[in-house]
Order: sequence, then C-alpha cells, then structure tokens
Amino acid sequence: MERLQKVMAKAGVASRRRSEELILRGHVEVDGKIVREMGVKIDPAANKIKVFGKEISISAPREYIILNKPSGYLTTVKDPYNRPTVMQLVGDPEYGLFPVGRLDQKTTGLLILTNDGDLAYRLTHPKHKVAKVYEVEIRGTPDPNAIWKLRNGVVLEDGKTRPAKINIVKRTSKSSILTVTIFEGKKRQVRRMCQAINHPVIRLNRLAVGPIELGDLKPGHWRYLEADELLKLKDSLAI
Ligand code: URA
Repeated sequence: MERLQKVMAKAGVASRRRSEELILRGHVEVDGKIVREMGVKIDPAANKIKVFGKEISISAPREYIILNKPSGYLTTVKDPYNRPTVMQLVGDPEYGLFPVGRLDQKTTGLLILTNDGDLAYRLTHPKHKVAKVYEVEIRGTPDPNAIWKLRNGVVLEDGKTRPAKINIVKRTSKSSILTVTIFEGKKRQVRRMCQAINHPVIRLNRLAVGPIELGDLKPGHWRYLEADELLKLKDSLAI
C-alpha cells in the first residue's frame, strides 16, 4: 500500500506537492469515490484512480535486482516469527519486489529479486531448464563413483535428479570443493544430492542463475541488473 499522492507522482501525473493539491481540491477519485483527505493509502495493483475523471495508468515499473545473500537470512518476503529476511537487505520494497526461487537460510550467493511475475515464473519453471551454478564444499573426498552419481542423477525421495555438471575444484584432506550445475530446482536439492552420496555439505554458495553471474558483489550487497544482463536473461527465457 502506498500514499495516493506518491502513486500519482510515480505515474507522472504531477509532482507529489501538486498531487496533494489535486486531492484537496477534489479532483481525484479512488474506485469511483472522490478522496479529499491526505494520507489515504492505496494498492496500485488493485485500485482504480481517476484524475479529472480520467483513469491514470499506475502499473509499477519492472525492477530486477541481484543480491549476494549472506548466511542466516530467510528467502521470503515476510516471516511470521520476525527472523531476518532478504527483504531487509534490499530496503523497502517499493514496487512489490519478491525473491525468485529460494536459497536455504544457510546458503549464500546469488538471488534475483523482481516484481515481474512472468519472468519469475519462467525462471523457476522446470521447462526452461535454467542453469543454476553452485560452489559447494563437502565433507571428505568423493570417489569417481560418487561423482558419476552426482552427474547422472541420484535418487531422492521425490525422484531422481536430472543430469548435472560437476567439476572438482579443490581437494584437501578433510573436504572437497566442487562446482555443481543443476537445471531444475527441487527443494534443498544440492544438499540432498551430496547427502545421498554420503558427503554432506559444509558450505553452499550460488554463483550464477542462467546468464546472470554473482561476480564480485559483496555479501549483503545488491545492485540493479544491467540492461545487457536483463536482455540476456529475457532472451534465455524466450521473453
Ligand atoms: N540447493 C540446496 O540444497 N540449497 C539451496 O539453497 C539451493 C540449492
């Protein structure tokens, strides 16, 4: 919900000050009723606003941002228990931003947020087989058979995973670092895949979603997608 004069200003009707004047003078209707008092809040997606009897277009501009999610934040718009959410990191969601897909509370890395429902739907629909790249540190050293299973599919309780790309980045005596690229998005998929081969995840960080890469964005920081990134992203989703 937003203040009426703010919505009018965003829609380009007039400045906020002038919009307030228009309201006070009785030139503004919300859902067929003239509003004269200040401070009325409206839902730009649901309410119809007329100025001088003419309906104004108030569709919110589309926004696309990426966040480097730190550990400890929930990927949700609101948490009933008031735990920290990713929304607190991107400031006040003026235009109804929401996270696309989900990273577990402990998972870090690239999260896209938008108010573009169509793009979000496509990004998460298995049909589009969007590649999601994770850097994963697992306990122990997986043998070739375990890596083969990760690549070709492991059986989880909700079905077998689709073929994945696996690269071994580093091995130490206690743990191994892999990059895992999956093309679907089962719940806690990477953690469950690694658990299934008896190499539990120590740390999980998402590096890329489709053509969008985390790059050197610092944990807890966010930025708007560049125009060329957005073009590539839309292109990859046939938008
Ligand atoms: N897979 C997981 O197990 N967790 C995530 O947060 C993302 C992918």
